[in-house]
Amino acid sequence: MSSQEELLSNIDRVDQRMLSLIEDLSEEQLAIPYERGINPPIWELGHSAFFYEYFLLRGFYNQAPIAPELDDMWDSFVIPHEERWSPGVVPGFESTLSYYRDVIDQTREHLASKTELTDEEVYLGQYVIAHQCMHVESLVWCRQTSGFQAPVYSRSGNSGAPATTTPTEDVEVPAGTYFIGVPAPAEGRKSDNFSFDNERPGFEIELPDFRISSTLVSLGDFLAFVEDDAYTREEFWSFGGAYWLRNNPRTAPAYWEKRDGEWWIRRFDQWEKIDPTLPLLHISYWEAEAYCNWAGRRLPSEFEWEAAARGAEALKFPTGNFMTAGDYDLDCRFAGTAPVTAFPESASPFGCLQMIGSAWEWTSNQYLPFDGFCVDMYAYMSTLQFATHNTCKGGSGATDPSLIRNSYRQAYHPDRSDVFVGFRTCAPVI
Ligand SMILES: [Fe+2]
Repeated sequence: MSSQEELLSNIDRVDQRMLSLIEDLSEEQLAIPYERGINPPIWELGHSAFFYEYFLLRGFYNQAPIAPELDDMWDSFVIPHEERWSPGVVPGFESTLSYYRDVIDQTREHLASKTELTDEEVYLGQYVIAHQCMHVESLVWCRQTSGFQAPVYSRSGNSGAPATTTPTEDVEVPAGTYFIGVPAPAEGRKSDNFSFDNERPGFEIELPDFRISSTLVSLGDFLAFVEDDAYTREEFWSFGGAYWLRNNPRTAPAYWEKRDGEWWIRRFDQWEKIDPTLPLLHISYWEAEAYCNWAGRRLPSEFEWEAAARGAEALKFPTGNFMTAGDYDLDCRFAGTAPVTAFPESASPFGCLQMIGSAWEWTSNQYLPFDGFCVDMYAYMSTLQFATHNTCKGGSGATDPSLIRNSYRQAYHPDRSDVFVGFRTCAPVI
């Protein structure tokens, strides 16, 4: 597939996903009340289109602004988060959809009409699509936060993925030199190996040998922690964890509820009995850290995680440099309802399962720029999260396949448990 065909096909898929995440919402659901971790769906639509308009239609094709009076509205770093809910501030659904449709169709026409695209044009296209993918995922977690129905294109709650009997065990990652991140692009070849600025410049790192779990922490694993009253036992909670727990009092993870002695969890608008084989999701960094303290384990560093996913050959994906999206839980295929032992065919070179998809994974790293970091054209994509967030890796069941790769760095604030994040653990360093 040429880069032009790939761009057009990605635009179409992500466009369809975003619309399907909005079009089945009722008027009442569209008028969602203020909630800190989400955006109003209509704002997500206009904001995604604005990136296409700003960087491609205006920035590359020199078109006049379509509705310049709304620029501040769609720029996330101008409009305060709470203002996005104000009635009369954000335009209505029909006019926003019409702006969105106009922008996406015009972008498509430009890209399709050329016989050959320039490197800059492809890169800008990759950039705005990747940005829209992030907002597709945030629309999915908005549904989880709000208790809305599962996305229509998801098989969530009805996973056909087989649970294998492979026992959960650690795999050994040998000591050695591993490549982290993405090399700085050659002059005029930015689109060859697309990444955001936070993955560049790549570098080599020496790691001692370590042992990491082949699977994600499962609901069953975490249930043992909950049943051991670990939420109430101070010895497992760090200073930051204890502070978070005081402000977010709970004795079990978000969306868990005990009914008549049995644990249930909520997925979107459905309650289901806990299936211990499925991955744990919606867990804060502090809960992940407390679990590790309880279990005598530790979180991997982001470099250990990446080495375990990429192997000595620095692969882009766990099984090679090309992805077969069907080998993972991505794009809401199962939305986190495939067992942690599923997809053995896409194990990493060292035998780790589901390094891509299923759940974003907490690492022990504070999210920081790599040495030699250069800010990209959109100055706020990474910089505002540096030093306050933690690095998460691997993508979740709600992540678009075109967004994710082994080197991808997501930043989530350690307090967050609303997003599709879980973790895997390492054996302690003796
Ligand atoms: Fe954004």
